[in-house]
This record gives sequence, structure tokens and C-alpha cells, in this order.
Amino acid sequence: MKLIITGGAGFIGSNLVRHLISATDHSVVNLDKLTYAGNLDSLVDVATSPRYRFVQADIADAAVVREVLEETQPDAVIHLAAESHVDRSIDGPAPFIQTNVVGTFNLLDASQRYLDGLSPPRRRGFRFVHVSTDEVYGSLGRTGTFNETSAYDPHSPYSATKAASDHLARSWHSTYGLPVIVTNCSNNYGPYQFPEKLLPLMIIKCLNEEALPVYGTGENVRDWLHVQDHVAALMTVLEKGTPGETYNIGGRSEQRNLDLVRMLCQIMDEMHPRSQDERYSDLITFVADRPGHDLRYSVDTTKIETELGWTPKHDLDSGLRATVRWYLEHRDWWQRILDGSYQLQRLGEAKR
Ligand SMILES: NC(=O)c1ccc[n+]([C@@H]2O[C@H](COP(=O)([O-])OP(=O)(O)OC[C@H]3O[C@@H](n4cnc5c(N)ncnc54)[C@H](O)[C@@H]3O)[C@@H](O)[C@H]2O)c1
Repeated sequence: MKLIITGGAGFIGSNLVRHLISATDHSVVNLDKLTYAGNLDSLVDVATSPRYRFVQADIADAAVVREVLEETQPDAVIHLAAESHVDRSIDGPAPFIQTNVVGTFNLLDASQRYLDGLSPPRRRGFRFVHVSTDEVYGSLGRTGTFNETSAYDPHSPYSATKAASDHLARSWHSTYGLPVIVTNCSNNYGPYQFPEKLLPLMIIKCLNEEALPVYGTGENVRDWLHVQDHVAALMTVLEKGTPGETYNIGGRSEQRNLDLVRMLCQIMDEMHPRSQDERYSDLITFVADRPGHDLRYSVDTTKIETELGWTPKHDLDSGLRATVRWYLEHRDWWQRILDGSYQLQRLGEAKR
């Protein structure tokens, strides 16, 4: 299969591209703008493969997107390119509209035009996998869970633009027959995640012996999924999913933010101890909460588990240990980021 992966230089995209090149026979065109979050360092081990090609392009540029589709003649598009950080969406929503909404529209429109020119057997096989988030469903109380028919109720500019893109993607299936499959996944963690996100931020702050900023009282609950399990889920959806359907993806690993940070501190105490009698958890500091911070997300993953046979392989404890080990062993990767665009500063306080 020939695949276009958008956002293949980002966190999840680079893990997906690595899997496709190292563990399958598929060919990959990685279409990525290389924003602050895109990083070709994440792909050095697979970039020389003859089955891999990188195209630096903006999905908001309709002409370029059409050109890449015509040149590549893909069997599928897996769409991950997005502005992805909630805090940045609070400080500056404009690029979220441009990439997540306009960019997704361009990609759907170009894919439909491309599909119209394919022979019937190739048309039947074509897939457009739209990768989205559980944040589109909004916030839950202490109990309950969202399934694929739950109403959308996004609260941040990030989740609102992802919700808009999900609606567009579904409408391209029902209106034009584009074989779209939508996935909504919970929080990912693992190697190659940009250090603005909770877990890498905390690991690096631990190593720097800096305060560990927990928003509000740390009560907010998130479900955590190892990125390699997300990659496996996307492959399952690509191979076995039904066009027009939506699949929730999650790790069945809900944690309060404060408990997750404490778990991480304990692992750091074992793997990279501080000086005597000092514990990383002593560095935990409560800071002003994120405006509009959703209390709890939880997704019911019965559909993908029973209909497509996917289940997560990593449990949270071993997944976190592997992630900490990776950041300890790949200091060069994140140090180069910190030397450039981002220095672990607080974002998203709505001081616009
Ligand atoms: N990280 C998570 O926990 C999570 C959970 C569920 C869903 N998702 C979704 O998965 C996708 C990937 O998330 P991620 O965490 O890897 O994000 P990321 O921020 O690490 O990577 C995004 C990538 O998209 C590229 N990009 C941004 N704007 C672009 C544009 N206009 N044109 C082309 N490329 C552009 C960036 O350069 C970067 O390589 C996103 O759609 C996100 O909404 C993420």
C-alpha cells in the first residue's frame, strides 16, 4: 500500500511512520509543515528507506495538497496533522482554525477529487482515516463514559477545531461517499513527544530539579494510552474499519493528574534518584488552573475491541517506565528542542 501520512514529523505521526517503515511493506509519503512541533530528528532511523519520502507542505495550501495526492497516487490517507496543544490554543487560536479546520477541509476536498479519478477497484479500497481526540465529547463528572454516539461538547479552541474537523470528515462520507473513518483517542504518552506535554515536561523538570507544575488541585482525570498502542489501533482501523464509522480508542487507564505525576515521581526516584532523603514528589507545586479545564474524559472502547479485535498491550506502569527510560537515554533529542523553540515555559493562562 502507498500511504500519505499528514503530520508524520509529530509525536504520534513519527511513531506511526516508524512502524510502517520498520514493520510493514507499505510506502509512506510524510506530508508535514514542520511547525514548532514537527521534528525530522524523530525519523532519522527510517528516513533513508526507499519506501519513505518527506514533503514539507502546509495542509492549508489547497493547491499543494492536490499536487501531493496526484503525484503520490495513495491507497490511503491517514490524517494526523494538527495544532495539538490545548494551552497554545488558548493563547493563540488562529493557527488551530487554519490547520485543523481549513487544512482538514482541503485534505478532504483534494482526496475526493483524487478518488473520483480512480478506477472502481482502487476506489473501493481507498481509505481516509481522520485521527481525532476524546476531548471533542467535553467533560464528564466523576462517573460515566463517552461512546461513539455521545454528543459533542468541546470546551477549548483546540477541541472545538478538532470537533469541527470530525464533523467535516463525516459529512464528506455521507455527502460525497469519501471512505472516511474517524478515530477519537485519549491522551497518548511515549517516545518523541514534544516537551510541552505533561509527561515529558515533568520528566525534564525532574531532571532539572525544577518545580513540577500541577494545574489547579490536580483533580482532573485523563485516560492514558501508550503511543504504540495508538499506532496499532490506527493500523487495525485502516485494515479492518468500516467507512463511515467512528471508533473510540483508549487505554482503560484513568488517573487524576496529581496521581499520574506522583507515579512518575516514584519511577524517577527508582531510575534516577535525587540526593539522599530527597524525593521528586517534593518538587510538586500547584499552579493556577487552565481556564475551562475539563474535569474528566473517559471513552468506552468496546466497539474497537469487539468489532475489530484491538486491545492495548501496554499497562500504565510498564509504559511509563519505558517512557522515562527513553527520555533518560535520548537527552540529545529533547535538548535540541529546548535549545530552540521552547524552554518549558507555562502556556495557556489566557493572558491575551
Ligand atoms: N497527543 C495526543 O495525546 C492525542 C490524542 C488524541 C488525538 N490526537 C490527535 O493526533 C494527531 C497528532 O497528534 P500529536 O500529538 O502527534 O501532535 P504533534 O503536535 O506532536 O504533531 C503535529 C504534527 O502536525 C504538523 N502540522 C501542524 N500543522 C500543519 C499544517 N498546517 N500542515 C502540515 N503539517 C502540519 C506538525 O509539524 C507536527 O509534525 C492530532 O490530530 C491530534 O489532534 C493526539
